[in-house]
Amino acid sequence: MPSLSHDILIIGAGLAGQRAAIEARKQNMDVGIVSKVHPVRSHSVAAAGGINAALGAGDDWKAHFRDTVYGSDFLGDQDAIEMLCKDAPSRVLEMESWGVVFSRTNKGEIAQRPFGGQSTPRTCYASDRTGHMLLHTTFDQLMKARPTTYPEYYALSLIIEDNRCEGAVLWDMEKGKLVVARAKAVLLATGGYGRAFSTTSNARICTGDGLALAYNAGLPLEDMEFVQFHPSGMYGKGFLVSEASRGEGAFLLNGNNERFMKRYAPQKMELASRDVIARAIMREITEGRGCGAKKDHVYLDVRHLGEKTIMEKIPEIRKTVHEQLGIDCVKQLIPIVPTAHYSMGGVPTDVHTRVITDAQNTPFLGLYAAGEVACLSVHGANRLGGNSLLETLVFGRIAGQKMAEFVRQNRHAPHVLSSHHEEDARLRVETILSNVSGHKSHVIQEKLQHVMMEDCGVYRNKAGLTRAMSAWKKLHVESKKIHVDDKSHTFNTDLIAALECQNLVTFSQSILASALERTETRGSHARTDFPTRNDQKWLKHSMAVSRGENVHLFYKPVTIKGYAPEARHY
Ligand code: FUM
Repeated sequence: MPSLSHDILIIGAGLAGQRAAIEARKQNMDVGIVSKVHPVRSHSVAAAGGINAALGAGDDWKAHFRDTVYGSDFLGDQDAIEMLCKDAPSRVLEMESWGVVFSRTNKGEIAQRPFGGQSTPRTCYASDRTGHMLLHTTFDQLMKARPTTYPEYYALSLIIEDNRCEGAVLWDMEKGKLVVARAKAVLLATGGYGRAFSTTSNARICTGDGLALAYNAGLPLEDMEFVQFHPSGMYGKGFLVSEASRGEGAFLLNGNNERFMKRYAPQKMELASRDVIARAIMREITEGRGCGAKKDHVYLDVRHLGEKTIMEKIPEIRKTVHEQLGIDCVKQLIPIVPTAHYSMGGVPTDVHTRVITDAQNTPFLGLYAAGEVACLSVHGANRLGGNSLLETLVFGRIAGQKMAEFVRQNRHAPHVLSSHHEEDARLRVETILSNVSGHKSHVIQEKLQHVMMEDCGVYRNKAGLTRAMSAWKKLHVESKKIHVDDKSHTFNTDLIAALECQNLVTFSQSILASALERTETRGSHARTDFPTRNDQKWLKHSMAVSRGENVHLFYKPVTIKGYAPEARHY
């Protein structure tokens, strides 16, 4: 089997992975960066509306910190949030110096717009293409830094020897071959998993592969019950209609033409936090005040902003809504529903991005995680818009530094590779290729998406989650027997879809188990049978470990640094 070796192996080439690679290269590390797509096809482009930093006069990191902790419904770890908010201005100015074309104020300063849950306009933006601009600019720097890139390589499993991570087994999609990649430090930077849900803003590539790599290796996943539903997904499509629209002053209207947010968030209205707005929309719909013939959506109204502002501030929204729905938002209302957008949970790490294994934050040697796949936790139970791009840059950079430090201190020869790594990976691929019966991956994926959306969506309860868990058990069995039509090895996209589908099924178990167990409502986790927050019992992070058909759950304390929990109102 072909093999390759680097000091550092980065799996995932979105913003977090790229930023980590640039930093590690600065420290003269030999870096390999693996991605199942070309790096600029990564999903970081999709965070359209902006990146938060306390740059403005009268703003400071402490206000950003308070907004983020409050937005997280007090589940965020305050040491990590402090680091995020303190470093934000430097990271944004660094991106400016690298060439990001931020929108500007009349004075020529970086323009900042209001975003949900923030006390002041703090979201720096490049019209509504911020993620796109950041990713492409970072990619220029990545090319200058010259890591070895492996586009169109898919990670099948982590190489764990003697309780340390020493690489990964990859599938070279073009050649159709297994490759062993050895490294002293491995970073998971594989992004999120919106494709576990039928309505999602996420690209097809967002299948939570890094979560499955960790979960399959016996590592815990943290706070998986917290799934963010972005309030404005395009009705019938799920695509993102950026929060930039509400930042610029858009209204939300129900079927009675009423700005219903006044009932749910009288002070912040359409700029309350995402969990609050997503719940409000679902209540309007279930209580019969939705729009359209089926009363199953609400409207986003940007008409009063006028064509000039729309073209200057949110041109992508106008373009995509027109392409997808045939609607010109200058004159027409945009139909929207909440859409699965972001995972607050993920592979648990400490503030140094080291993957941890227990409630005492014991690091798992050699393994790191950054970006959406990781749970630090800077977002707690609900992320503020504009904090995800920021997280990728702040903690991607730290990951690069910390991995370089680790490699310098661990210059020992790697363990001899156990034969089971290659055998297990080969068996997984060949089983899919040789199955002649069983379902196609899209059938299983659609069933999973339906179950997750129906019973683990914006609102959940015991009956629904229990039903979902028994459906999951059947899907888990079916996913082992996935069958593909294309039996070839080279560039077999049918095979990749099957592997992705298995991953989606694998970690969805942890979402359901953690959601069933958490008998309270906090942030994005809204239980109709337990409608209030219960700090006495549940001010703690959940940690889910796979035990085959079952899940072992344990809990980890929240780090509070100066901001004690209080009731949340917008
Ligand atoms: O709505 C948006 O533009 C999304 C931004 C984010 O998720 O941070």
